[in-house]
Amino acid sequence: MSPPASPTTTPAAVPTPRATAHGNPIPTDGPIGELLAAMGRSEMRPAHIHFIVAAPGHESVTTHLFVEGDPYLESDAVFGVKDTLIAPFTRCDDPSQAAEFQIGSPFYLLEWDFVLARTGDAC
Ligand SMILES: [Fe+2]
Repeated sequence: MSPPASPTTTPAAVPTPRATAHGNPIPTDGPIGELLAAMGRSEMRPAHIHFIVAAPGHESVTTHLFVEGDPYLESDAVFGVKDTLIAPFTRCDDPSQAAEFQIGSPFYLLEWDFVLARTGDAC
């Protein structure tokens, strides 16, 4: 019998050159566009970043995080926003920190703890 799964926290720092409150539209040139129009819904998604997080001995997780303050958080075209997926991105103006990430300055930094469940065959 496998030991009970216990969560593991995987911290991550994600530098990004832009964390502005700019969402993006989904394609509207097919039946989805017709459906959104018929429902009077916007085609806009709030700004977000996708993640696949994996570690040996743990279940991987695929998710996305949304930029706190985005004007489309309440009207996401695909209903993907949950409060627990809204994340604060902090503007960083430190050129030495930007150089560390090999990115231009200023940039935005997200610090987030991803929690992975252990698989049954983990040590
Ligand atoms: Fe996306």
